[in-house]
Amino acid sequence: MDQDFVWKDETDLLWGALSSGGAFLVVLDPHGKPNPMTIGWGQIGIVWSRPAFTVLVRQNRYTYECLRAAESFTVSVPAPGKLKDELFLCGTKSGRSLDKFRAAGLTPRAARLVHTPIVAECLAHYECRLLARTLVALPDVADPEIVDRFSYTDGNTHAAFFGEILATYTTPNSAT
Ligand SMILES: Cc1cc2nc3c(=O)[nH]c(=O)nc-3n(C[C@H](O)[C@H](O)[C@H](O)COP(=O)(O)O)c2cc1C
Repeated sequence: MDQDFVWKDETDLLWGALSSGGAFLVVLDPHGKPNPMTIGWGQIGIVWSRPAFTVLVRQNRYTYECLRAAESFTVSVPAPGKLKDELFLCGTKSGRSLDKFRAAGLTPRAARLVHTPIVAECLAHYECRLLARTLVALPDVADPEIVDRFSYTDGNTHAAFFGEILATYTTPNSAT
């Protein structure tokens, strides 16, 4: 049975996932197909006086295109050490040419408050309503090592997408 948690709790689980295999960022594409993308970067905090999940997505990702037109996204976090193959697939293949839910054998499950589904096989879930986005402009990057290391020289920087966290819960029985 699902168990609610307070949005700022479970950060150890989230940070553990982000700093090892990753978590799944899901967004609907313009055809209504959900696309899971592996993320290793993300922040939880308060923005515009609301609890917010900020994801950073590079401009050449299909997910970036989808997020620009979307109203919501979800982040689903695997149990520690789980779903490694699925995270690898969703972090190396593009949803432009592949149904990644099907290819990875993952199940999209209806979310509670947003149209974007969650990943049923994961342990913890964040449902977010998109509030704003901002592009990291090359002249604004203060540390040249970042420009170099992340190949920003061609202008393909990341964008930050700010989502208001509307629901947070665990689905312990779904964890594999
Ligand atoms: C562990 C891991 C973490 C990743 N984190 C991010 C991230 O935070 N932001 C990002 O833009 N891409 C990240 N990627 C790369 C995307 O997941 C990858 O380019 C993916 O194939 C894009 O899928 P899409 O074209 O369907 O959006 C990560 C990949 C891996 C394997």
